[in-house]
Amino acid sequence: MTEIAVTAGKSNSNNLLRRDIRFLGNILGEVLVHQGGNELLDIVEKIRETSKSLRAVFIPDLHEEFKQLISSLEPEIRHQVIRAFAIYFQLVNIAEQNHRIRRKRDYERSAGEAVQRGSIEASVKELKEHGFTYYEAQEIMEGMSLELVMTAHPTEAKRRAILDIHKRIADDVMQLDNPTLTFREREQLREKLLNEVITLWQTDELRDRKPTVLDEVRNGMYYFHETLFHVLPDVYQELERCLSKYYPEHHWHVPKYLRFGSWIGGDRDGNPSVTAEVTWQTLKMQRKMAVREYQLALAGMFKHLSFSTSIVDVTDELMASIQKDRLQVTLQKTPEWHNEKEPYRIKLSYMTEKLHNVLDESKDGTSERYENARELIADLKIIDRSLRHHYADYVAQTHLSQMIRQVELFGFHTATLDIRQHSQEHEKAMTEILAKMNITSNYAELKEEEKLVLLEQLLNDPRPLTSPYQEYSESTTECLDVYRTIFKAQKEFGTQCITSYLISMTEAGSDILEVMVFAKEVGLFYKDPDGTVVCTLQSVPLFETIDDLHAAPAIMNRLFEMPIYRQSVAAMNDLQEIMLGYSDSNKDGGVVTANWELRVAMKQITATGKKYGVKLKYFHGRGGALGRGGMPLNRSILVQPPETIGGGIKITEQGEVISSRYSLKGIAYRSLEQATSALIKAAINAKLYDENNQQEEEWDEIIAGISETSLTKYQDLVFRDPDFLKFFKESTPLGEVGELNIGSRPSKRKNSDRFEDLRAIPWVFAWTQSRYLFPAWYAAGTSLYNFYQDDEKKLQVLQDMYHNSTFFRSLIDTLQLAIIKADLVIAKEYSGMCSDQEVKDRVFGKIEQEFNLTKEMVLKITGLPEILDDAPALQESIRQRNPYVDPLSYLQVQLLTELRAAREQNRDDALLLREVLLTINGIAAGLRNTG
Ligand code: PGA
Repeated sequence: MTEIAVTAGKSNSNNLLRRDIRFLGNILGEVLVHQGGNELLDIVEKIRETSKSLRAVFIPDLHEEFKQLISSLEPEIRHQVIRAFAIYFQLVNIAEQNHRIRRKRDYERSAGEAVQRGSIEASVKELKEHGFTYYEAQEIMEGMSLELVMTAHPTEAKRRAILDIHKRIADDVMQLDNPTLTFREREQLREKLLNEVITLWQTDELRDRKPTVLDEVRNGMYYFHETLFHVLPDVYQELERCLSKYYPEHHWHVPKYLRFGSWIGGDRDGNPSVTAEVTWQTLKMQRKMAVREYQLALAGMFKHLSFSTSIVDVTDELMASIQKDRLQVTLQKTPEWHNEKEPYRIKLSYMTEKLHNVLDESKDGTSERYENARELIADLKIIDRSLRHHYADYVAQTHLSQMIRQVELFGFHTATLDIRQHSQEHEKAMTEILAKMNITSNYAELKEEEKLVLLEQLLNDPRPLTSPYQEYSESTTECLDVYRTIFKAQKEFGTQCITSYLISMTEAGSDILEVMVFAKEVGLFYKDPDGTVVCTLQSVPLFETIDDLHAAPAIMNRLFEMPIYRQSVAAMNDLQEIMLGYSDSNKDGGVVTANWELRVAMKQITATGKKYGVKLKYFHGRGGALGRGGMPLNRSILVQPPETIGGGIKITEQGEVISSRYSLKGIAYRSLEQATSALIKAAINAKLYDENNQQEEEWDEIIAGISETSLTKYQDLVFRDPDFLKFFKESTPLGEVGELNIGSRPSKRKNSDRFEDLRAIPWVFAWTQSRYLFPAWYAAGTSLYNFYQDDEKKLQVLQDMYHNSTFFRSLIDTLQLAIIKADLVIAKEYSGMCSDQEVKDRVFGKIEQEFNLTKEMVLKITGLPEILDDAPALQESIRQRNPYVDPLSYLQVQLLTELRAAREQNRDDALLLREVLLTINGIAAGLRNTG
């Protein structure tokens, strides 16, 4: 691994990336010799060289020789070869991440007055240049809202132990840039890195068991502790700095526009391990985490707030608050430094005690503890005012403002936890309860309109439906327990700890009302005697199939016109949250139709909401892979129709996306900075947006037609070809992907083989591993061609749309990425595993033909000679990675074949399975994507 692939670049900065990759590659080479001898290094080098040559010029004989070389490897060495390539990618990824941070720093160092693209300053400057007044800018800040929600979706293949080693390597590599390092220090650093890579080599990248839900919660919390608690306030501070620079005549305190939520420990859809008790434990862990962070921050302040009353004048307010604390709070021990003349330190010790008591439930309701985050903020503000009173503004700004912001953002709950469950589970429980109450014998069988009428009546009726004297099935009891837990949690941790209840596979309005009836059952929804509706938990539909997206506007319309429902929305500030599933809609209808229908649904629901005075907040359930709506955070904001973002945006952050965006502070900052900048830009676009754009209406009509053809083409193969599922299962590592212990939840909702019950994650994961990337492009070519029909005028229309329609451009650019990442030569190797030759030839033939057509259409529309010629750095990065991924793919095909044969003959398969799983991890690292 001595010669290294790098993003080609002319600048000095890219040379540094090249240097780092070469440096790490050399170290890996040494580790290979150290751990496996020269023989290992030689074989790895030979495979790499051949793979590279094949990528340069495809020679059939050499291809055969390459396959021969791979299949001749003895298991012992094969295992090591897989790990060598996999670890190589891990190191390249680290170097590339570091390089992103370096580039930002370079920019800031050298740019002087210039403003970096995508920075907060760039968008605030744009605001000013567009002539927005202070009041308009203020209005934009007040209207902006972005919630990023961490999920425990099983797509992060790397173990925490591995991520920790990566972090250490990243920090060390960063050190290499330090020009003051002495020769000896540089040598020591090299020695350290060598040993970190040895540790990496000697650490198992596979988990030997599935994580528990609470393991997953801890994992999520890690990012809050490591980066988010610190980076988020920095982003706010930067925004305020920029606003003050461009609107200097005013003081800025930006409202809470950017925050994090979580699903981990709350998402029970298809995961029986997420019980009501687990949710409760999760909330406790989150509170503990926040409290610990604040205790640490206060401990830090002790050192800085040594001001003495012998020298400065503190406020009476501060002294009075200390007096009050003295009477109410018992300090467990008097700090050794105790000095009556240092009032801040005295105040801080009482605050620490009151924080400590937050975790002690026996102190609940006493003035010995903070009852909520507001009380803590009030104390911090007392200190802040006093510091400024004696002109210690810098200390106030650096310590107090930062911590006040933290408490405003993270409260005592760290992150708002969403609850999610499948609509069928609610229906089942409702059917049982209503039958027991003799209200209706089979609720599930009622027609939708009958259900709606009944549920509306139940919501208007103050009497409870359940009784403590009645026995319910286990699943109904658990269903009710979840609501009871939410009620208890809102009391204990504050209403912000859980505010949304998401309903997977929402198909009808009754799915939404059922959740409200359960909420009413436990007191999360009620009517005051004066008729006002109080509701502290919103039922949030998740629309995720093409049919459901079609039906969504009518469903919401029906609910908004129902008085009790409209009142419940009024109780939520007239804001309705709607979740949209990118992966399942894609799995159901293909990439073109899914993206189009999501957009249409959003626009129509927004229009419906407008009719009833309801603002909409869309929650975009998207993953990292292209077939699951994956794209950079800022782009996913900018691509939204401008009129739909007024109520705020919520987006899932999951799996490998979390570790790649939030492991390193520099990257996390850049991501959130770009997201903030995109939010401001989107707000500018919304203000300048002309709703009656005739041109857009024409384009919409064209895309609707394209989408329709695409849907037919896609479903003809996926749903109507009886052999397609067989082909998919046999020609991809679908089953084996499910054997990776990467998440607590099972890979299927039910133990069924139906396509509908297969979750979108393994669907995309398996196609990605086998390099088809089918969900990211299939059916696009035919639908685009069907419009074009070799008519140059039509092509011009498509080109015009590509240059001027945000939606169409994003769609075609996503296709560019899919095409360059997919590899049909390798996919063909996978198709060889399909046991039926006729099926194989037919299905693969269709896929290949469509791939070629898609590529051809994309090139025509973009006018580029080659895919991604307009983004050479990205093109090069992907191309350079391919020769290193290829050996892993060939190895995977061979191992899958052997594994499946061993299983058929009931032979021991443990080692083979291990090797397969290692290739899965390696390919995921190489493609920087799992599912
Ligand atoms: P889900 O997620 O299966 O949990 O709905 C799908 C996805 O994130 O791709």
